[in-house]
Amino acid sequence: MSKKTPPPSRRDFIKHLTGTTLALSLGPLASLAHQQKAEERIIQYQKKITVNDRINIAVIGMGIMGNNNLNTALKVPGVQLVAACDLYTGRLQRVKELYGDAIFTTNDYRKILARQDVDAVIIATSDQWHARITKEALQKGKHVYCEKPMVHFISEGQGVIAAQKASNKTMQVGSQRVSSIVYAKAHELYKSGEIGKLNMVNAIYHRQSALGAWEYTMPPDASTATVDWERYIAGMPTMPYDAKKFFWWRNYREFGTGVAGDLFVHLLSGTHVITDSKGPVSIYSSGQLCYWKDGRNVPDVMTGILNYPDTPEHSAFQLSLQVNFVSGTGGMETIRFIGDEGTIDIDGDGLTVHHSKMTVAPGIGGWDALSSYPKAMQDELLQTYNQKYTAGQQKSDNKQDIVFKQPKGYDEHLDHHTNFFDSVRTGKQVVENATFGFRAAAPCLACNDSYFEKKIIGWDPENMKLT
Ligand SMILES: NC(=O)c1ccc[n+]([C@@H]2O[C@H](COP(=O)([O-])OP(=O)(O)OC[C@H]3O[C@@H](n4cnc5c(N)ncnc54)[C@H](O)[C@@H]3O)[C@@H](O)[C@H]2O)c1
Repeated sequence: MSKKTPPPSRRDFIKHLTGTTLALSLGPLASLAHQQKAEERIIQYQKKITVNDRINIAVIGMGIMGNNNLNTALKVPGVQLVAACDLYTGRLQRVKELYGDAIFTTNDYRKILARQDVDAVIIATSDQWHARITKEALQKGKHVYCEKPMVHFISEGQGVIAAQKASNKTMQVGSQRVSSIVYAKAHELYKSGEIGKLNMVNAIYHRQSALGAWEYTMPPDASTATVDWERYIAGMPTMPYDAKKFFWWRNYREFGTGVAGDLFVHLLSGTHVITDSKGPVSIYSSGQLCYWKDGRNVPDVMTGILNYPDTPEHSAFQLSLQVNFVSGTGGMETIRFIGDEGTIDIDGDGLTVHHSKMTVAPGIGGWDALSSYPKAMQDELLQTYNQKYTAGQQKSDNKQDIVFKQPKGYDEHLDHHTNFFDSVRTGKQVVENATFGFRAAAPCLACNDSYFEKKIIGWDPENMKLT
């Protein structure tokens, strides 16, 4: 494996999980469900990994996230890299540098899918290739971990779901927060009624840098000699080589899905896992390109408003999504669930529940019309009010705030990959299958359609169809 770093040991992995369990059981909100979740995995990995348990993987798309995913996947005991694919030569060279010459490398993903020694593929290409490679991989009998958004177009979703069902192989979509213990805790608190009846979710991503706005460092040797441009645009209308369209692909609708497909999808996945929602029924968005005028054809400031219906899983609520790549906040990420009795705020590594119950009595005085009436009338109104409402009815009886922090060193990405490889081994359901992935991606892609076509989009979340 890695020439530079020793392969992670089963002991390291168990240490990570044991740390999780201890921190959770000692925390202010020790949850049995979480302890069980972690302990189950410890038992699983205390099992000796035999040759039969080994999972050979290949990565298709060895850019930022391909490398990230690979790093994490290799921490799961029994997982090993056998092949990698990319369209830029420098990235294949880097694979050899990191993992050795024995790793098979190619610019043709079909050669990866044809290999008998590949059990599972991680697909981390630009968005326009996700559905195509996923379907072909499943048809070739490979298990698939595919990055979000699962599809580039809404029209591709049903085909991916059908291909997964027909193949009977495991498929996980890569929104790692779906596996996070913070989101599991939020789910538990929301379901137990801590914030009452949900009516609104506000989710925000703000950034304030060129890298944050997707202008990544380009290699100095970028050209058609090092980039397989023809393969990159295969199946698309032909267009001349453009390094920006390859290395900054997120900025172009032809290859990426804008801020909605890149970032709204994380916020939606998080909202769906907490509420058990299948999705919204109406989608509207607005935006503008106000700063990063580098040739991109997608907005850098965007807001989406999605309406979720009343269902057995949750009350009707409105989800507002906001991305701002020119933010004087300096950058931030928040997701706030607002119910009629409190809020859940999720930040980077934890959450806070704040309670606020409305008083039974409507209130009198303060910012009120009371003081504008004659003195005698005010006294009479106050007397009547105090006779009508008891002291208890006049004040709100709020519980204490709840703060939950994930254990130090906890990694949701590792949990997401662990869940995937567990499912590959045991056949049990993953946390983020193709249906979940499509239900999270489609409303985000509809935000783009709403922005570009200036209209409200209707969506049937149960049957996953535009209405
Ligand atoms: N889960 C997360 O938190 C997260 C974070 C970042 C990116 N992502 C997702 O990961 C994917 C990759 O993003 P990135 O930032 O790594 O992009 P990147 O540009 O760094 O890497 C993409 C790579 O895919 C390769 N590629 C494109 N088409 C290919 C094809 N047909 N065959 C083989 N290789 C091909 C390119 O050569 C490039 O090296 C995107 O879909 C993105 O949305 C997810």
